[in-house]
This record gives sequence, C-alpha cells and structure tokens, in this order.
Amino acid sequence: MRDSFKAVKITDSVYWVGAIDWKIRDFHGYLTSRGSTYNAYLIIDEKITLLDTVKAPFKDELIARISSVIDPEKIDYIVSHHSEMDHSGCLPEIIELVKPEKLFASKMGVKTLNEHFKINIDITPVGNGEKISLGKNSLIFYETRLLHWPESMISYLPEEKILFSQDGFGMHLANYEIYADLIDESILYEEGKKYYANILLPYSKLILKLLNTIKELGLDIKILAPDHGPVWRKDIDKYIGWYEKWATRKSENKAVVVYATMWGSTELMARAISEGIASEGVEVKLMPHTGSHRSDIITEVLCAGGFVVGAPTINNNMFPKVADYLSYIKGLKPQNLKGFAFGSYGWSGEGATQIQNILKEMKVELIRDELKVKYVPTEDDLKQCYDAGKLLGQKIKS
Ligand code: FEO
Repeated sequence: MRDSFKAVKITDSVYWVGAIDWKIRDFHGYLTSRGSTYNAYLIIDEKITLLDTVKAPFKDELIARISSVIDPEKIDYIVSHHSEMDHSGCLPEIIELVKPEKLFASKMGVKTLNEHFKINIDITPVGNGEKISLGKNSLIFYETRLLHWPESMISYLPEEKILFSQDGFGMHLANYEIYADLIDESILYEEGKKYYANILLPYSKLILKLLNTIKELGLDIKILAPDHGPVWRKDIDKYIGWYEKWATRKSENKAVVVYATMWGSTELMARAISEGIASEGVEVKLMPHTGSHRSDIITEVLCAGGFVVGAPTINNNMFPKVADYLSYIKGLKPQNLKGFAFGSYGWSGEGATQIQNILKEMKVELIRDELKVKYVPTEDDLKQCYDAGKLLGQKIKS
C-alpha cells in the first residue's frame, strides 16, 4: 500500500504530500460528511523543506508520499504553521526519522509545540514578516495569532507566488482531485462555508484584518495552498470574496428555526412560527432535532438575520439536544441576529426561559418574550405563534 501513495507536483519545486482521511465524520464536534485532508507540502531546493505534517495515524501516508519524490532523511527544514494535532500529530516521529537541521515555528508555536510534545531539537522561532532562504526560493512568515490558535502563522513563497494559508481557506473535503477548479463549485461553496462557520466564525474581525493586510502587502497569490481540502490555482479572488462576505456577517433575508419536540406540540409551534416568517417573504430554514446536526445549524445561521429556538421542558430543563445546539452555537459567536425562544410544557415550563436566557447571552436581539404553550397548542396559541413569526419576518426585512 505504501508504494501507491504518490506526491502531487504543484510547481517545479513544490509538491503536495498530505493525507486523505476518507472516513472522518466527527472533527471535534463538526460533522465532516465528506471526510477531510491533512495537507502537507514539500519544497525541493537547496534546503529541502517540509511544511507541516499530518494527523498521527496518517504518518505512513505522509512518509510514502514524500518518499515518492525524495528520501525523507534528506529533508533539511520543517515548518510548523500550527500546533493543532491534525497538523502536528506525527511531528515527533517525523523529527525522529528526518533529523532536520531546523524546525521553524512562530514564537508562540515554540511554546505550544513544547507543551504538546517532547520535541528533542531546539525549535527556531520566526517573527512576523521574517524571511528565510531555502536556496533559489525563500519563505516569508506572517503571524496570524488566534486564527485560529494563538500560535498560528502562514507563509508565502514569493518565487512561486504560493500562499500557504494553513487552516485559513481550508475545507473538510476528501478528494483525489487536488485542485479546486476540478471540483463542483457548489460543493466548494457548501464545504467552504461550513468550515468557515464551524472553525473561523469567532475570529471574523481578525479575518477581515488579515484580508486587508494581504492587500496592503500586495501579495501576488497565484496558488492558495491551505492545510485542508483543495489547492486553489484559479478563482482565488472569488474565494477571498466568499470569505469577505462570511466575515462581514451581513444578515440575509433568512431565518433559522431550530426546535426539538417530544409529543409534537413544540413542532406545531415551530411550523406556525415558520409560516408567519415566510408570509413576509423571508426564507425559512426549519431544523428539527431529528436529523439536524449542530454544525449544519451554525452553517445556516452564519448569514441569517433570524434565529428562533424552541424546546419542550423535560425534568425542569430544556430538551437536551437543544442544550447541545446552543452550547456549540453560542461558542461560535454568531452576530446580527433577531429572534425569540418558544416551547411547550406540562407543568414547570423552564425550557423556553432557559433558551431565552442563552439567546440574551448570545446578544440575539429578542423581538418578544419567550412564547410558551401548556400541553397542546390551541388554534389561538398557533395564531400567536404565526403572529410572532410574522413580526420577526418584518423585523428581519427592516
Ligand atoms: Fe486543521 Fe486548527 O487545525
């Protein structure tokens, strides 16, 4: 099997030597329906340089792909852009095999790598804007602190005009076609947006700042090489435009209604609310707890203007699946949302109030108090739900 893994030549001196994870479906809580890749790149020059490694179980695939180009022991430099284990997991073993002359990381990266592993060589820190020579080529490093870890950095290869963007501009998409222009654009948009919503959303201000910095530096990017998903050699401006749209979080004429139901009452409320929203010409995405994954909900919420959440009460608490959703979504800090909480109850009725409290913490602009219905909603109750939805629709449009 090892002989079947080959490097992919990107330019005369740069190869993709990563690993394809066809099976992964849960990436720290994110449903990765199409698998992922852990991209690593090899630069052949006087100083043979490996940019990042892969998740530990994929070490042999990385070594095999490198070996299809050169003997891994000939690698001189390793660069660690990011310490998260999907890129550094097999770094200690690769260091053991390669015995590199130097391992480069950001100043914070030196600390985080040493805190993760027992790295048995000194790590050379590189600062923002620092350039190292590889021979004919050079690498310039740019710190991208908190994008999305404190030690994250990216690098630029000016001679080939390649930006190694690390997690940025990545997506979880396993594919044998390494180039984005060979993949259906609707899949790229769907997976790019999902990745943005689930990984990068809390750092949107920093992303806008980084996009500005890239413009100010005048980086001429002919190839965009992230650490997950395809490599971009065409339509880079279009992809950056998608990022600008997602990072500005401009609300669309759309509401997401998320709910759980036990005996159908909260579902009846959700349906009536959705009809009310839709009556105002606002798109509604109705997401029941059966079949909706938290990572798909935040993807829908990314550019929505409305967010309505409902759950029945069970044992004095909101239905647990909705607690899961809200815990995850709150952490990703979506913004510019209007909405309200709702839910049916039998006797105590804390569920909808708990949801309302979390929506307040998320700074969702509440257009009304929580909407509660005892047991089964009457026609009057459903009219109240419809009217609440209609009001939200009007507010989203205004
Ligand atoms: Fe792909 Fe933050 O690791």
